[in-house]
Amino acid sequence: MKRHAMALGGAGLMLGISLLAVQAQDGMGKVPEPPAFAAQSEPNFVSISDILEFKALPEYHEPEWVTKNFVDTGKLPPVAERLPKEPMVYKTANMPEGVGVYGDTMRHVIGGRPDGWNYAGGAQQGWGGIDIGMYECLTRTGPLFEVKADELAPMPNLAKSWEWSEDGHELTMHLIEGAKWSDGMPFNADDVMFYWEDNVLDTNVSPTGGATPETFGVGTTLVKVDDYTVKWTFKEVRPTQYLYQMAYGAFCPGPAHMLKPQHPKYSSNTYEQYKNAFPPEYLNFPVMGAWVPVEYRPDDVIVLRRNPYYWKVDEAGNQLPYLNEVSYRLSTWSDRDVQTVAGTADFSNLEQPENFVESLKRSAEADAPARLQFGARTIGYTLYPNLSGNGWGEPSELGQAIRELNRNLDFRKAVSMALDRQSMGESLVKGPFTTPYPGGLYAGTSFYDKDSTAYFGYSLDDAKAYLAKAGLSDTDGNGIVNFPAGTAGGQDVQITLLVNGDYGTDKSLAEGVLTMMEKLGIRVVLDTISGNSLTEIQQGGKFDWAVLRNGADLVSVVQGTVGLAPVGPRTAFSHRVGTDGTLDLLPFEQEMVDVVNKFIASSDNAERADLMKQYQALYTQNLYGIGLTQYPGALIINKRFANIPAGAPIFQFNWAEDNIIRERVFVPADKQTTNELQPDTLPAAPGIGNGPVKN
Ligand code: GLA
Repeated sequence: MKRHAMALGGAGLMLGISLLAVQAQDGMGKVPEPPAFAAQSEPNFVSISDILEFKALPEYHEPEWVTKNFVDTGKLPPVAERLPKEPMVYKTANMPEGVGVYGDTMRHVIGGRPDGWNYAGGAQQGWGGIDIGMYECLTRTGPLFEVKADELAPMPNLAKSWEWSEDGHELTMHLIEGAKWSDGMPFNADDVMFYWEDNVLDTNVSPTGGATPETFGVGTTLVKVDDYTVKWTFKEVRPTQYLYQMAYGAFCPGPAHMLKPQHPKYSSNTYEQYKNAFPPEYLNFPVMGAWVPVEYRPDDVIVLRRNPYYWKVDEAGNQLPYLNEVSYRLSTWSDRDVQTVAGTADFSNLEQPENFVESLKRSAEADAPARLQFGARTIGYTLYPNLSGNGWGEPSELGQAIRELNRNLDFRKAVSMALDRQSMGESLVKGPFTTPYPGGLYAGTSFYDKDSTAYFGYSLDDAKAYLAKAGLSDTDGNGIVNFPAGTAGGQDVQITLLVNGDYGTDKSLAEGVLTMMEKLGIRVVLDTISGNSLTEIQQGGKFDWAVLRNGADLVSVVQGTVGLAPVGPRTAFSHRVGTDGTLDLLPFEQEMVDVVNKFIASSDNAERADLMKQYQALYTQNLYGIGLTQYPGALIINKRFANIPAGAPIFQFNWAEDNIIRERVFVPADKQTTNELQPDTLPAAPGIGNGPVKN
């Protein structure tokens, strides 16, 4: 590993000279080369038109038991009448094992817990792909990992096509026509408009996917043209980038016929009551996705059954999904790895390095029930200092003093240089997996440029020098530096670090930060909480520092682009609008925002590559976030499943639960199990009469 070129003997006399040396080279290009680690399989790159099209087929089919128990008994209309005019058709040539057969279930295990089904209103479903299976979005990006780089664009989904006006400001989208929610009610532009007007534009609502008005560009508008047409108007010219934002999770409309009557604008509910109007106990919540939640037992299980109105088919006219059921055991994320490797569950994103060695060992055995495949290094963690100086989260006096420190570059450099990222990574797993991560775009991804990456790597002496430069010294001799006498009463610098308690990796990394900061002379206190509360606290700005697993923006750049910098009042992780309604951006943040906005407005590939170099330099030189570690994940799937695309990453544009296109996955007849928890049942809905619809 290359070390920081400058070795500083200590603070004091040497300080001035050494800091000059540091500033001159500014850390550029110093990041160590990641150890070689090849992904275990490559995608077969194709065009989007090779994957799907929208068209009517001469005939349609469904599982026999659906016809027999539901259509023949008059509970459901025939399948052809349940499908839209032109369903989405998945092409056989793009399915690894071709047209599938019906049956079986995919058993998941998750560490998350649902707080309800009103996703548009801000309720979470417990992650692990429950929501991905339930909700459909205007566009889709997960499967783009296998789309040719020069044809990269979001896939159509609920929006089956779109066109730009001549001047490039208007985007007209055509919605799938005649599709229905899983309760048989029509899906149309009213669902889209309700999501936009009363959930995105109403800033009292925080939709779970994080959509804000600025997620689709400052000043963007959306109007209904007719039942199946909506029109966007952008300030920019042809900002095709926003089409990625219309995929999971920022533009997945909820069922307006259920949600609207509960929304505060149309009822006496508070926003909190609206968010919680459909708690986990509420079953058969209507969805556009392939599976509907039909059973929930706290801390035990969530069962989702096939949506009889699902609007996607294969080329033989078989209504999808092939799998009758998906289930979710409510356990821990770590248990997901253990159970999938053991064969008592079917699917895991192996993303916690602490489980790598055991999982690899067991999966290598000839009789292993599951296959395990590593991908690229797309999982990474960052220490985010809260950069708001004007009241986001309403900090205490101590909290405000920490915000001021966070906004001081010397302080952020001190923190970065006190982190021994090499040993931090090795404490998770030994071997060629982890690599020190300076922050910003990941090494190995398409927009990454090493020469534009600054790295303030481990050097405790330099770190201490920077801390002194930031005005901190240990005035009371207790080993912890103090604020200057006039600030926060000159007390010890004690920082609260927000961390997701649902993951071992997050906790280990936070503990690593705590220990390393102690050596620097900063006291860190961990605020370890569950994922759902973490999101709330983090979005509310109630933290000094947070250790967070990064989103898709830093992997792909094109997905979640607006997350790359505080482009709107509420778009960024670590810097949002203050109590006075303004966003007090530091000068380098403003530059980052300008670069990201230019990127969004540009369709010139050379210019976009150059802009991302500028972005990377601004991010890493200024330590907008302080990177910790970066490593690969592996997809573990039980061997009985067919149609798993080659080279499916656990995380790129989205998580693997989206990437593998689960609605197309099947179990060949000779491998089918009797694992379905609710065989031969469909979600209840008016007419289907398969159980009570709770109100
Ligand atoms: C959690 C898990 C991921 C993935 C996502 C899907 O975040 O940690 O591996 O399953 O849920 O939403």
